[in-house]
Amino acid sequence: MPKDDFAGLLPENFEEFRSLDFWEGFFKARGSKAFEWYGEWKQLRPLVLPILKGHSDILVLGCGNSDLSADMYDDGCTGITNIDFSKGVIKEMMLKNLRKRPRMKWQVMDMTETKFPDGSFTAAVDKGGLDALMGEDTEGSDAAGAKFLAEVVRLLKPRKGSVYVCVSLAQAHVLKKLLAAFSGPWHVKLQRLPPTPDMAGAALQPILVKVQRADLAHADELAPVELCFSEDLSAPNAEQLQDICQVVREDSQMRQQARVQDEADPFARLHPGRRLFLPSLSPEGADCTNGEAHSNGDASSTGRVNPLDVPLGGGRSRYSAVVLDSEGIAADGALRDCCVFVVPQGRESEWLFAHPEGQWAVARDCLSKRVILIVLNRGHEFTASKSVQAELSPLVKHLAPLHVREVEKAVPILTTDEGIGERHIREDVISPISGRIVVEDTRVPHPEGGPDDLHWVRRMVFLSTRGLTQSEAYLAHRPPEASDAQAKSGSAKKARRKAAKGKDMDMVPHYSVLACEYHVSIVAGLSLIGDALVKQRRAGKGQGEVLVIGLGGGSLPIYLHEVFSFNVECVDLDETVIRLARTHFGFQESSETPKLQARVGDGLEAAAERASQQEAGLDVLIVDASGGDPSQAMSCPPAVFLERQFLQDAHRSLAQEGLLVMNCVCRSQAIFDSAVAALQGVFKDVYQLDAEGDVNRVIFASKQHLECAPPLDGTASTAVRACSSLAALRKVADVHATPSSIPVDDPLVTQLTRLRLLANPPYMWTIMDAPIYFKAGRF
Ligand SMILES: C[S@@+](CC[C@H](N)C(=O)[O-])C[C@H]1O[C@@H](n2cnc3c(N)ncnc32)[C@H](O)[C@@H]1O
Repeated sequence: MPKDDFAGLLPENFEEFRSLDFWEGFFKARGSKAFEWYGEWKQLRPLVLPILKGHSDILVLGCGNSDLSADMYDDGCTGITNIDFSKGVIKEMMLKNLRKRPRMKWQVMDMTETKFPDGSFTAAVDKGGLDALMGEDTEGSDAAGAKFLAEVVRLLKPRKGSVYVCVSLAQAHVLKKLLAAFSGPWHVKLQRLPPTPDMAGAALQPILVKVQRADLAHADELAPVELCFSEDLSAPNAEQLQDICQVVREDSQMRQQARVQDEADPFARLHPGRRLFLPSLSPEGADCTNGEAHSNGDASSTGRVNPLDVPLGGGRSRYSAVVLDSEGIAADGALRDCCVFVVPQGRESEWLFAHPEGQWAVARDCLSKRVILIVLNRGHEFTASKSVQAELSPLVKHLAPLHVREVEKAVPILTTDEGIGERHIREDVISPISGRIVVEDTRVPHPEGGPDDLHWVRRMVFLSTRGLTQSEAYLAHRPPEASDAQAKSGSAKKARRKAAKGKDMDMVPHYSVLACEYHVSIVAGLSLIGDALVKQRRAGKGQGEVLVIGLGGGSLPIYLHEVFSFNVECVDLDETVIRLARTHFGFQESSETPKLQARVGDGLEAAAERASQQEAGLDVLIVDASGGDPSQAMSCPPAVFLERQFLQDAHRSLAQEGLLVMNCVCRSQAIFDSAVAALQGVFKDVYQLDAEGDVNRVIFASKQHLECAPPLDGTASTAVRACSSLAALRKVADVHATPSSIPVDDPLVTQLTRLRLLANPPYMWTIMDAPIYFKAGRF
């Protein structure tokens, strides 16, 4: 411990370092005099500043009244949140720093149990915090240390570069705990710090421990700990150095043994953060030859993941599986060792089960260190949960960690409330253009706020592209109540119901609630030109002209036609898709205004045709085309839709206040950014709307600055601009939704009102050429 005038403040025993009372008393007795445990920023700076450079979400744990954060701030690391459980010290630090360092945050919080959501930070800094919890090697300190380290893992974003910087005396029991907590895809490096004047000659010197998340695609999960010093027998702290070297040696032996074990049996050991896809699971064993290991964070910096490696239920064997090893540490023993989760039939392509981020969310809910997600493949019959359970038990046994297998304990098999689910295949067809397409009805949870009888969806799934793009529509037993405004399209609806009715079920597609999350995003984004559309219609200048490239089941065009009364034209390359939309999704053309039409054709040509026309242009051009190369980072839309020729045609085809809308499925941020850049090369403004929990990102591009869009003058501060943009968006929605100012039977008005109930916030708007983020909220 450092020499200073605080000797009288030290506790009787190390346990007290964990007590709030001790620390409140310590800081009170110290007054406003800062105390630096283990040295000042000037000693740490040369090693720590390069690590923290570029991090804008830094958490300082157990900040105390140290000047460390202030010094880091003054050196350019301004995105700092400080926590300490001592109210007194946080108040003092706030008063001291608020004016001079306004971006820095201070919060009273227990660092072993914070209130921040998972992945809130990219860097965590702890100087003396872990040591305060683990001063002595006791059971209490062990539990507190484990809880704290689990919290650090939870709070760091699961992606490459996230870093934990710990300044500690690295006593053997502390270092062991730390290495165990970061046994997954983390690289650990230990370095000596320059001796501080007040600790010169002390038997225990502070050590810098840097723990950094590796690039998971190439990470060697068992890479040895990097030790940047040797046992220096002449050093004053020779014993400490020997102890550290001993712990590191033992750790690398353990890693070596684990490596050997992994080769013999890849499932024997837990691999925190690993996600392994097994396309085929049979009594003979798991075939993971086609499966690739994916770790939690291989979303890379994008937060997006490879959508190819997902179990969409199309495998040849009865079952496919995804094995997920949780990164949470069982600090309080609350996690069970292993469980199986059966995905209900028909729901495997939902984000929650198909997208790795969704799968991790399921895994977290299962409270297990290992979760084996099971998908029941199409083409096989699964009747009762009991028989599925009996079949699965022997299959999953070898997927459990070795210690679970050894105790012969049954692995619990879980599923959702609806059990193994139901799936009715309506048509399974091979299209020469799109490959295998399945139309199926599946039981789903009831959508909040929707009519009571929506318990099924009809889906069109493109199996051969293994993408997530598909169409879906809710099914209802009865038609929805027709409003006055909608009554005019009643005959089309009747025909649609007749055409799409199931043989065995009295259910028809129902379009007052959109089933696809990204369709909701598309419709919500139309509020960008809401004003213009309302004005135009009031002035009798047209219904609103929409061209949709890529029909799918047709649910979005039907919705736009039925609810907004737009004239909607659709083109699709694939004749089979159009036939399926007519047969199963009730897509019924109408040649009277408002029009609804679909034709086989090339979207590129359709846009070029529109561009060459003289009369008033399109109000909305929607590119919702799948068929991109699934092995490419951008699987939707196909690359040609981002080429200059198409974008220029799209630009020319639109009215001055028109909007280009593009549905993108992309797993590389760099490719996505280049798509945005291509759009920016032709259009004035580009906007993005992400629905939380959806793989699709919807981009909007306009020919001019839109009235309700954020001003991009570059003068106002980001915050002010974000607020005014949000207010402008809200105003558009509010004006449209006020019955006194606008006739209520205007379908546009009705729809914008309805969107307030339907759209599940939060949506995140990103204005592409300015770093502005704000929640659009419900509108
Ligand atoms: C050894 S001091 C380090 C202070 C500061 N980081 C420095 O470098 O000088 C430990 C700090 O951890 C805080 N602390 C201890 N247990 C804590 C807990 N469970 N939650 C939050 N803070 C805690 C104490 O109040 C104290 O400020």
